[in-house]
Amino acid sequence: MFGLNKTTSKFCDLKGKVAIVTGAGKGMGRADSLKLAGAGAKVVLADISLQDCQSAVEEIKKGRGEAIAIKCDVSKKSEIDNVVAETLKKFGKIDILVNNAGIYPFEPFLTMPEQNFEKVIDINLKGYFLMAQACAKEMVKQKSGAIVNISSIAMGQVGVGFAGLTHYCASKGGITAMSQAMALELAPFGIRVNCIAPGSIDTPGTHTSTMEPKVQEAMNAAIPMKRSGKSEEIANAVLFLASDESSYMTGSTMVVDGGWVAG
Ligand SMILES: NC(=O)c1ccc[n+]([C@@H]2O[C@H](COP(=O)([O-])OP(=O)(O)OC[C@H]3O[C@@H](n4cnc5c(N)ncnc54)[C@H](O)[C@@H]3O)[C@@H](O)[C@H]2O)c1
Repeated sequence: MFGLNKTTSKFCDLKGKVAIVTGAGKGMGRADSLKLAGAGAKVVLADISLQDCQSAVEEIKKGRGEAIAIKCDVSKKSEIDNVVAETLKKFGKIDILVNNAGIYPFEPFLTMPEQNFEKVIDINLKGYFLMAQACAKEMVKQKSGAIVNISSIAMGQVGVGFAGLTHYCASKGGITAMSQAMALELAPFGIRVNCIAPGSIDTPGTHTSTMEPKVQEAMNAAIPMKRSGKSEEIANAVLFLASDESSYMTGSTMVVDGGWVAG
């Protein structure tokens, strides 16, 4: 017997939860914010573009959700501290963090200047560390929380290599490894830390990227499902990992790539 319970609440219900999403103005971060708000969470949208965040907040409010926009460059600790302080002031707690803000400027390894390498690591890796640490300090007090770090199939090992993205691959491999270590240290406090490794996802970032068109063609050919993913398809995975439905998952990386890595 399955013991069907008529009073079972909605799948991935986030009513009463407070979430922060970084890089929330565009692309996957925006889709994640709309998805979490749709599930009932109060959402804090943080991005270097306040204007993009504000337009996403308007969209959430039209759907009767609750959200605020805050300007934040995740590579700057003072701006991260401000997001946490504003979130606590407005909503009183932090239950969910989606670390999503990231950049992927293609350029050859042999001529990549040191400062370009540092910039990608500062945003994609140090930014995730700083934001996770600041939020986890609050989550520890309530002995619960869910952190979802957006990595990439460029993370190495079971992932794929990307010519022209030395700095990016280093940052994404770092996120996956860092998330496992964080999961171990935060498990005793009831905080779960998981990663998502998206494949090729159609976002504004991929349209403005310096990636050569032949690289996109080669990627599409390598994907068994023969198409790029949509931001909403990543947001569904984010929602699952942010909710209590994934209560026994921590230290995991969920690959969402149309079968690319399996191929
Ligand atoms: N699109 C893909 O194919 C793909 C695949 C795997 C992983 N990812 C990862 O997913 C995440 C989102 O990618 P996307 O394609 O949606 O990107 P996008 O460029 O479409 O959107 C990124 C958002 O992050 C913001 N941002 C950039 N730098 C920031 C900073 N320093 N501080 C705060 N916000 C900042 C931008 O303003 C923008 O709103 C990134 O971490 C990316 O590495 C993307």
